[in-house]
Amino acid sequence: MEVKIWGARGSAPVASPDFSHYGGDTACIEVLSNSGDALLLDAGSGLGAYERALDGALRPSPPILLTHLHMDHIQGLPFYSPLYDAKNAPVIYGPRFSPDRTLKEELGRLFDGILMPVKIVDLPATDMRGLKPGDAFKIGSFLIETARTNHPGEALAYKITADGWTFVYTGDHEIPLDEQDQDKVALNKALLDFIGGADVVLADCQFDREEHLKRPGWGHSHFEQWLPEISSRGAKSAVLMHYSPRYDDAKVASMLAKAREKAGSLIVSAARPGMRIGAGGVIAEPKDRRACPNCGFYKKLGAFSDARAVFSALLTEARRRAKCDAGAIYLVENDELSFSASQNDTLFPDSAANKFAYMTARLPINGDSVAGYVAREKKILNIADAYAIDDSAPYSFNSSFDEKTGYRTRSLLVVPLVNARGKAIGVLQLINALDNGRPAPFGEEIEKTVYELCSIATVPIERSLLVTDMILRALRTTASRDPNETGRHVRRVGSVAAELYHRWALEHGADPEELIAEKGKIRLAAMLHDVGKVWIPDKILKKPGKLDNEERALMQEHAALGAGLFDDAFNEIEVMARDIALHHHARWDGKGYTGSKDIVSPSGPEIPLAARITAIADVYDALVSKRCYKDSWDPSKALEILREESGKHFDPELVRLFMEIQDVTRPIYERYGDEKEE
Ligand code: C2E
Ligand code: SIN
Ligand code: SIN
Ligand code: SIN
Ligand code: FE
Ligand code: FE
Repeated sequence: MEVKIWGARGSAPVASPDFSHYGGDTACIEVLSNSGDALLLDAGSGLGAYERALDGALRPSPPILLTHLHMDHIQGLPFYSPLYDAKNAPVIYGPRFSPDRTLKEELGRLFDGILMPVKIVDLPATDMRGLKPGDAFKIGSFLIETARTNHPGEALAYKITADGWTFVYTGDHEIPLDEQDQDKVALNKALLDFIGGADVVLADCQFDREEHLKRPGWGHSHFEQWLPEISSRGAKSAVLMHYSPRYDDAKVASMLAKAREKAGSLIVSAARPGMRIGAGGVIAEPKDRRACPNCGFYKKLGAFSDARAVFSALLTEARRRAKCDAGAIYLVENDELSFSASQNDTLFPDSAANKFAYMTARLPINGDSVAGYVAREKKILNIADAYAIDDSAPYSFNSSFDEKTGYRTRSLLVVPLVNARGKAIGVLQLINALDNGRPAPFGEEIEKTVYELCSIATVPIERSLLVTDMILRALRTTASRDPNETGRHVRRVGSVAAELYHRWALEHGADPEELIAEKGKIRLAAMLHDVGKVWIPDKILKKPGKLDNEERALMQEHAALGAGLFDDAFNEIEVMARDIALHHHARWDGKGYTGSKDIVSPSGPEIPLAARITAIADVYDALVSKRCYKDSWDPSKALEILREESGKHFDPELVRLFMEIQDVTRPIYERYGDEKEE
């Protein structure tokens, strides 16, 4: 005899990559005897998986034995084709303890023409047989015995014997937490005694202990409860199932690991689709269908060309997987670590548009900080409490961020970003793992996952940094002629445009992932707004005084000339760069210029959004910076001009939003300030 799992989930089916190992389909178990007889236990959504595996082969359905009639144990029935095929229809068995209605009448509540379009009277499958606790009978070579379980309503467990061994499938059963209710205690004792003589027990473990304490009387048990009961009754192997639909693979795996610690000689397994079970327990498991658990993340990174967008994706994914409150990324720059990105649900729930994003902080690559140590050693550190690091450790915790912000760092998981050549390009620092909302240490099992995410992200990070670097190098052809057009100027315009877009996208309810991708594009594309100035003669570009009309007309051509560089663009960033170059001197009132007499400058919302945004970032930067033709102005004076020009030169909504992001623009100007030439 062999038992095969088709569905192991409890309560409701789930479908998500995070549930693919232990499966999302609800209860369905196939039993095969050596002589070729077959049975199905329960008809949850796993019955669909069973039928799909038959691949259309028409054959009589095995009998179906239902433990009880709760939805998760019958929801596969309506979609099971043999039910509609008189020749192949199954005999259906299920609990009927009271004589007032037949099993067919009870199932007729589902097949009633309302919950299901088909009525039970129209079903060709007519053979439905009610069972009582204590019934024993044979189907082919199987001996089948039943017992009542402690579950709301009428519910049965099945004991099945064939080919010299026996297993019990408990269906849904609660081992009571308190001994007060005599009926339940007696019911439980009878069921546990029923297990006696079985080699293998498939048992309900919907909950972990904590959740069971919150839901006593719901008719389900928790993992560890079964172990002493099953071993004391002589079984060799326990297969746990009927997991809460809230428990993802990581959760079930950790419950299994905990259960195994306490299992003694009992072999404990967690049921999953495709698992095959014999007299000694699990015989075989399918290969994990999720062959590449991180492929989704890898593909997602493909949408991001900008380093900060990649940082954001890495922080988001690593924090989601490690379930922690905060995280930061440091990059190796000039033999130091430079703080480059952070997320923190406590300090800044909307992590991106915050004044910390451009914070300038540097750490030496040594043991003075945890991140510095990890960058030097290229080894993972998993620290339970940052403030309890032993004095003898070769690294210490730098608490300056906590001191500055009032944040309290506890647990840390610090992972190096190591490139293909074995060089550390940076460090990912995850902070404060959470267990039910409370800080906890990072588990060992998450280290490998986070390390993998870091490995995957390293290539896109290096590539995106290279893209930025190449843009800056290309722009030096203009910068070398106009010392004010430095890399820092275009970085400021790029970042301010990106943050203004972010603010705008939040206001317009953009999808968070699209927002990050779009924000990355605008950051890069806006850096190229003035690339056309490379064609403007020095005597105009560097003229210390005011331009005359002819010079001004020539100067204005920089817009169309820059756009011409992207005439054959198809990449989305290049298309955006073309829009921005051509229209960054467009005006809301239509009195702007494109620098080409063939292209009329648009007005109002006709101006591409990215160009309207860049116009504000560009003019603000021109105003507060020193130019060969003007002095630098006070930020407050610059903002005043923008306000005055609202609705004339600039999109009034964007001017309003620009005023709201001043706590972000200030750190941008500190990070990419003019005093530190590149
Ligand atoms: P830019 O220096 O990057 O300036 C970009 C834009 O900022 C200007 O676009 C203008 O809209 C705004 N802006 C700059 N300075 C001031 C100012 O003092 N007051 C106000 N209200 N707005 C200002 P615009 O005017 O189309 O100029 C485009 C580019 O032409 C400038 O780029 C600069 O490279 C050049 N340029 C403009 N005016 C002069 C000038 O008087 N002398 C020289 N040598 N170059 C100029
Ligand atoms: C697992 O693959 O996580 C273990 C499954 C089992 O042994 O039940
Ligand atoms: C930074 O240094 O600002 C982050 C990296 C980048 O955006 O190029
Ligand atoms: C974020 O918004 O979360 C970071 C992405 C970026 O700043 O480009
Ligand atoms: Fe159930
Ligand atoms: Fe310009």
